[in-house]
Amino acid sequence: MDRVTGRLGGLAYGGDYNPEQWSPEVWLEDMSLMGQASVNLVTVGVFAWSLVEPHPGEYDFTLIDQVLELAHRNGIHVDLATGTASPPPWFTRMHPDAMLVDSEGTPRSHGARQAYCPSSPAFREAAARLCSHMVDRYGDHPSVVLWHVSNEYGDHNYHCYCDVSAQSFRTWLQHRYGSLAELNRAWGTAVWSQHYADWADVMPPRSVSYKSFANPTQQLDWWRFSSDELLTLFQAEAAIIRAGSSYPVTTNFMSFFKPVNYQKWASSVDIVSNDDYLLYTDPHPEQRTAMAADLMRSLAAGKPWLLMEHSTSAVNWQPRNLAKAPGEMRRNSLQHIARGADGALFFQWRASTFGAEKFHSAMLPHAGTDSSIWREVCRLGADLRHLSHVAGSAVEQPRVGIILDWESWWAAELDSHPSIDATPISQIRRWYGALWERSVVVDFVAPTGDLSKYDLLIAPSWYLVSDDDAGRISDFVTSGATLVLTYFSGVVDENDHVRTGGYPGAFREVTGLVIEEFAPLLAHQSVRLTDGGTGSVWTDRARVTTAEVLARYADGPAEGSPAITFNTVGEGACWYVGTELDDSGLTRLVETVLTRAGIPMSTHAAGVEIVRRASPENSYLFVLNHTAGEVLVEARGHELLDDRSVQGTLRVAPGGCAVVLEEPPRQ
Ligand code: GLA
Repeated sequence: MDRVTGRLGGLAYGGDYNPEQWSPEVWLEDMSLMGQASVNLVTVGVFAWSLVEPHPGEYDFTLIDQVLELAHRNGIHVDLATGTASPPPWFTRMHPDAMLVDSEGTPRSHGARQAYCPSSPAFREAAARLCSHMVDRYGDHPSVVLWHVSNEYGDHNYHCYCDVSAQSFRTWLQHRYGSLAELNRAWGTAVWSQHYADWADVMPPRSVSYKSFANPTQQLDWWRFSSDELLTLFQAEAAIIRAGSSYPVTTNFMSFFKPVNYQKWASSVDIVSNDDYLLYTDPHPEQRTAMAADLMRSLAAGKPWLLMEHSTSAVNWQPRNLAKAPGEMRRNSLQHIARGADGALFFQWRASTFGAEKFHSAMLPHAGTDSSIWREVCRLGADLRHLSHVAGSAVEQPRVGIILDWESWWAAELDSHPSIDATPISQIRRWYGALWERSVVVDFVAPTGDLSKYDLLIAPSWYLVSDDDAGRISDFVTSGATLVLTYFSGVVDENDHVRTGGYPGAFREVTGLVIEEFAPLLAHQSVRLTDGGTGSVWTDRARVTTAEVLARYADGPAEGSPAITFNTVGEGACWYVGTELDDSGLTRLVETVLTRAGIPMSTHAAGVEIVRRASPENSYLFVLNHTAGEVLVEARGHELLDDRSVQGTLRVAPGGCAVVLEEPPRQ
């Protein structure tokens, strides 16, 4: 990221710029307003393919030439898109077999975006040609600082069930299994007469007679394949760009986007970048924002990353699109910066007046510059200038990690399970929230990652686990660390085959527990625990072997069975939580676990977010007050946003933000 911030002279600020929707007179106004707002980076050309290549093989770069030149003259840098996110209408006409086909076999028509099958050779060739032209022309353009390959891979086309995809899937499976015998074993085709005797019979999990009960391992491999297929598409485009340009390459991730295994992707991008939008169905959208930011920092291995898109206010794609409250956009942006982003960009610069996104907020709203959004945009631009030295610093290495394994996530949410409510991300969200309230910053850790950095790992519904990963976790605990495991964990191996002898299969020893039978609950059912709390979603009929029982079920289908247990393992310990605890039960448990693991937590009011970033020279204390009351935090140094000295007590106004350059720096 320093290759970008070094050229920008600090944190990145700006957004998607779509000049193709406006006249050249408007572009001139844009440049001047961008200056007013302290914009230094814009993303250009994301959806410009149909203008750049209006007819097959005929390229017209006039618009991009002019815009890059204008940006350059005005001191604004460019994150240049390859433009390959959405092929032009002529492409679909010429290559009908490159259209996306859904699981029912219906081709999707042109008319929105991402209208292509990721496996299509025709699409891959057309995209590669466009990339080559782009890099030949702009590979060393002085305004460009970053390459933006495609856009949000897989957002609308993550699974294509066409015949071309079917053939690619077969090739991928041949590579994974080597033989049909191995595939038959892994897929468990002895069930329901599914044994394959010819590769030609192997298909994507298209809509089947017994709807949504397709072979589970076939479905799991389909998720794996589809993510890999998009990755090869990205890698092919990125290779062309890298061959012709020394500028770094990124593509924008989408926070916790299930179809794309970003843990597998992260090493292929030069800079991790992300798009993050508030979800108003979440009771605390700011916690979800922080969670996405922590995921990105984890994908970037702790290094700075870039917030490529968020919104100044409402989006247009939720059923009800709420406007942000005054100050909310500033807090959201600074949340990302606090958690390691070296810039905050928006979708988009100027609000569209036509098209599907005309009601999406922008930096420059329909109302123009005499508006609160514009004033907040200018203020945030000034804030980021005051924080320019934060660029390049890193968030303190967290001692707590949450295990996130995309493959296990896919497998846990397949059909025909004991309950549709045992989903890892919903639990991760709750555990994350409880930690966030105590200002405990967490990493999201792949099971194959470096576990030695953590004193505490939390693994909600870690359903699918390989022997290797189970072994590594066992070593982690034995050597003195703490693991928290929740229900529906350790159940199957990497082929989604049940581990017999009692659940939690791979984690029987480490939990000191044998679960004989799952006893999930009805949607609104809850059970009482002997510690006074309640549980929902799930219970187990279980017995302990070596674990200590901290709470049992006082009623319900598993009455008398252990609900919360604690097991000493070597130098370390493992907690098991067999139900979805109510809010106060979860809070109590999180505090107990943190205390016993020796992890400090903040005692500030709920809603006060405190994070520290540090460089070898400086440390920066971010305090973001999401509450309606003033907050007092102990700090010493210089507050950078309001340019004030802080000697002992930092006052942060309701809804306000502060960043203290600490004296002496805390290392
Ligand atoms: C995504 C896309 C943008 C835009 C925004 C709207 O992030 O990348 O092109 O559609 O969503 O929120």
